[in-house]
Amino acid sequence: MFEKAGFECPSIKEESRKLIFENEEKGVRYFWVKPSDVAIYVERGAADLGVVGKDILLEYRPDVYELLDLKTGNCSMAVAAKKGFTDDRNRTLTVATKFTNVAKAYYSSLGRDIDIVHLNGSIELAPILGLSDVIVDIVETGTTLKENNLEVVEKFVPISARLIANKANFKFKSEMIEKVKRSLQEQTEKA
Ligand code: PRP
Repeated sequence: MFEKAGFECPSIKEESRKLIFENEEKGVRYFWVKPSDVAIYVERGAADLGVVGKDILLEYRPDVYELLDLKTGNCSMAVAAKKGFTDDRNRTLTVATKFTNVAKAYYSSLGRDIDIVHLNGSIELAPILGLSDVIVDIVETGTTLKENNLEVVEKFVPISARLIANKANFKFKSEMIEKVKRSLQEQTEKA
């Protein structure tokens, strides 16, 4: 999408372990970071723009501008459990997740008491091994749940990739940022 917007950077397509790729002529530099770190680089101004999942924005609430829904990387934030699970509301529900804040906000909106188990990955293991009653995680195709005998209880937020901007740099580089945004927006509208 950035290439189509006129900000191509051929070196990024080469097989390598490099993290930074630059096209001086176009005045653009890209770098790879972990999905959960994108908003940190943008919030602190190390990057002017970032592409990040809405899940990360909901979880960490970084102080950045969310400029555009890129309408790609579509998935859902969902509650899932072992097949046939029913919630006994007389007991505290144990919830395993990477998305602690998202899970707390969701269950608080339902007035449901929960006990959070924070995990960093392979969340699907938790209900199978009795570490939690349910999980709150991202579901895309549903294959991971299915292959681990789990099922969706409820999908509660649609997730997709977003274009974000550093607040101060947005003012100083508004012309270029608006140009990128306009082109990406046109592409999402055509898709
Ligand atoms: C995510 C999520 C699920 C999986 C869902 O994991 O945590 O495990 O994708 O996708 P599916 O519905 O298409 O099977 P990710 O690949 O981001 O890795 P993670 O374990 O580091 O979260």
